[in-house]
Amino acid sequence: MFYSAIRKILFQFDPETIHELTIKGLKSTGATPFNFAYKQQVPNKPVQVMGIHFPNPCGLAAGLDKNGECIRAFDAMGFGFVEVGTVTPRPQPGNDKPRIFRLPQANAVINRMGFNNKGVDYLVDQVRKAKYSGVLGINIGKNKDTPEENAKDDYLYCMRKVYNFASYITVNISSPNTPGLRSLQYGDALNELLAALKAEQTVLAKQYDKYVPIAVKIAPDLSEQEINSIAECLINNDIDGVIATNTTLARDGVEDLEHGNETGGLSGAPVKDKSTEVIRLLAKALDGKLPIIGVGGISSGADAKEKIEAGAKLVQVYTGFIYQGPELVKEIVQTLRR
Ligand SMILES: Cc1cc2nc3c(=O)[nH]c(=O)nc-3n(C[C@H](O)[C@H](O)[C@H](O)COP(=O)(O)O)c2cc1C
Repeated sequence: MFYSAIRKILFQFDPETIHELTIKGLKSTGATPFNFAYKQQVPNKPVQVMGIHFPNPCGLAAGLDKNGECIRAFDAMGFGFVEVGTVTPRPQPGNDKPRIFRLPQANAVINRMGFNNKGVDYLVDQVRKAKYSGVLGINIGKNKDTPEENAKDDYLYCMRKVYNFASYITVNISSPNTPGLRSLQYGDALNELLAALKAEQTVLAKQYDKYVPIAVKIAPDLSEQEINSIAECLINNDIDGVIATNTTLARDGVEDLEHGNETGGLSGAPVKDKSTEVIRLLAKALDGKLPIIGVGGISSGADAKEKIEAGAKLVQVYTGFIYQGPELVKEIVQTLRR
């Protein structure tokens, strides 16, 4: 009720301006008594996934808090886990503005941000300052100007930097807004990347005397055959989890809406069924060998339940959260407890 009134005002303004103001507000209040404005009690629904204890299965998806500046604020909202990033080795500005568009009639967003972020050192500094003791995912990617053949080096660089600060690390190979990134999802490129990351994880686990799981984030725009080969590659490389899915390049159902044909990734309600189908096929191919984190178009408790029933062990929200506000987290956890 409260958020829907605020949303009416927020949605009058340019989405990125509102995003920046919100991040500033959450950053400055997250760990202070002023967080009363959004703090809420969410019931417990503990789950154990990738060897990690989650207080509840509803997480914040990557991309909202790209620089890890608002971790304590999202914690106060009751998220069971927070994923920050995508972060790249060096800071980069991302694509030209405007680069994020609301499609309110479809409860959707199109974005072509292009991994705008302040770089991995800044993010690690923020994580350190947050003194957060909950579950933190750190989502890593490559710089736009790193040649595709050197992509692996960027992931390894970020992995070494964030390893000691993350509960799990997400390898994002599915953003549609970094040229060539999605090609890392296939064949030898995927195998080489995962083998290198796995080898590095073994080295780092020894160095820090702790095991930090690796999850791979995939796109919704994959055929059944592609999903099967990704699953095989994840199993063969002993990867710890998979996040399905990122945004879609498809425009089904939104072509005729204002902004419906903007370049970028479509998220929210229109990607829901596509993501669920990927989860269902993945679950079949993985046969319980790796847990799935389900994300894509969740805007109610029932949507979250659908993802769990398709085979996900945890869920994440982004666009639904923009439209519904913190109440969504509570609703999801309450529904999953039933
Ligand atoms: C504006 C925006 C920026 C995003 N940035 C990232 C990102 O940096 N890294 C990432 O892995 N996913 C990113 N995503 C994708 C979300 O994490 C999520 O996978 C996708 O939007 C589907 O979930 P949703 O329908 O709940 O939004 C972004 C999504 C949006 C809308």
